[in-house]
Amino acid sequence: MAEKKIRESWGSRLGIIMAVAGSAVGLGNFLRFPAKAAANGGGAFMIPYFIALLFLGIPLMWIEWTLGRYGGGFGHGTAPGIFHSLWQKNRFIKYFGVIGIFGPLVIFIYYVFIESWTLAYSFFSLTGRSTSLLDQNSLRSFLSAFQGLEKNQYFHGIGVAYTFFLITFLLNIWVIYYGIRGGIEKLCKWAMPLLFVFGLILLIRVFTLGTPDLSRPDWNIMAGLGFLWNPDFSALKSAKVWMEAAGQIFFTLSVGIGVILTYASYLKKNDDVVLSGLTASMTNEFAEVILGGSIIIPAAFVFFGPVDIKNIAQSGVFNLGFVTMPLVLNKLPFAYLFGFLWFFLLFLAGITSSVSLAQPAVAFLEDEFCITRKRAVTIFSIAAFILCQPAIFFLGRGVVNELDFWGGTFFLVIFATIETVLFVWVFGMDKAWDEIHQGSEMRIPVVYKFIIKYITPLFLFVILGFWFFQEWLPVILLKGVAVADKPYIVATRLGLVVVFVILAILVKIVWRKRRLEEKGRG
Ligand code: ALA
Repeated sequence: MAEKKIRESWGSRLGIIMAVAGSAVGLGNFLRFPAKAAANGGGAFMIPYFIALLFLGIPLMWIEWTLGRYGGGFGHGTAPGIFHSLWQKNRFIKYFGVIGIFGPLVIFIYYVFIESWTLAYSFFSLTGRSTSLLDQNSLRSFLSAFQGLEKNQYFHGIGVAYTFFLITFLLNIWVIYYGIRGGIEKLCKWAMPLLFVFGLILLIRVFTLGTPDLSRPDWNIMAGLGFLWNPDFSALKSAKVWMEAAGQIFFTLSVGIGVILTYASYLKKNDDVVLSGLTASMTNEFAEVILGGSIIIPAAFVFFGPVDIKNIAQSGVFNLGFVTMPLVLNKLPFAYLFGFLWFFLLFLAGITSSVSLAQPAVAFLEDEFCITRKRAVTIFSIAAFILCQPAIFFLGRGVVNELDFWGGTFFLVIFATIETVLFVWVFGMDKAWDEIHQGSEMRIPVVYKFIIKYITPLFLFVILGFWFFQEWLPVILLKGVAVADKPYIVATRLGLVVVFVILAILVKIVWRKRRLEEKGRG
């Protein structure tokens, strides 16, 4: 194995904050959040949501920033090496760390495909191809044919979607090829401000919609905001609502995935993590609660009213983003411009997240196999490209949902539980507290020592407990999956097992080599 090489680092503090915020602000903020909030009690959803933010999201953010910076000091940018550095006596802990490479890889392989739709729709908006469609059915058929799920007058196959997928995939590879400072940091430094500008323009446009249907003065923007924010407190009695709120916090902040560990591993030992982590989280929350909560649902309410909006909110995030929102925008003057702003906003949110999902696998190859970035990116590109194919060609068979369940939901909670227990119970809370505050520019209120030690792990165990109690059997037995889709779902699960085992074998190879080298030197 080659000599230990100098790891990359961030160019500036603003750079890493923008990059972590870029990872966090994604499709989840503008599509998943409004759909979840509207479907789970409106304003009441925000109670479990903010509780999960305070007791799970923010503590996990600090834990991951700190663990990443700590691991980076040992030359490790991913969880196998970071977990091993924390608990060197345990031979198995590095294999639990495999989840921190596996999870983001799994999300990456479907996320990039969905991101490519946003690029395609930006183009369709500018060229007027989608802006002339003025009813729900036409927009649905357009989307479905674009995705390759049917053939009709709009598209005869998946060729156009595949072309946009290739462009998006290559753009992602191009960014990660140029590295942390030259690729990711540069992208996020211009993409994030632009995204906020686009978001604010759309917000102003939505807030000035007035009452488009003069015969229905109650279909106005205030009532639209009310639909999303008026609390339905009865929702708080449902365990599902609490789980959904916690799940949204994980997904939106990108915690429990493994990407923040990797980004923070490029920090220097005395770089602050407390204020930077908090700033990145708050930037995400602004994008989610203020922008994400004020665009799509209120706009749809003004046009479709209180009865239809319920079905719209529950019709799934793809429908919301690619059917409902264009339908609203297509009814406005300058539809092509607002359509472009909406979809390009989603694209910017998507690409700044997807590059972060690619980075752990690349960092793992670079750090642990001591290969160049160029080689690591080449290997990653080939593997990820192959893995993306089932998501593209079997979308209609539920493969994307299956990948999202394991990569984007289940393993997040498992991974967060492992890293929290490891940090506060194995590494030790007093050491952990000192480590968090190393170089920090502000002190965390001391109550958080108690929260991080007891409340966060307890919260995680309760979520896991509920999940196992309520869902594991139906999930394992494929309850609710159509008979025709079952072979695809089983094949997806087998594929995921194979990917996980390959990653675990790679970890084993690295550590064996390292042991032999140490013996040779000793
Ligand atoms: N945090 C990213 C999102 O919200 C993954 O889409």
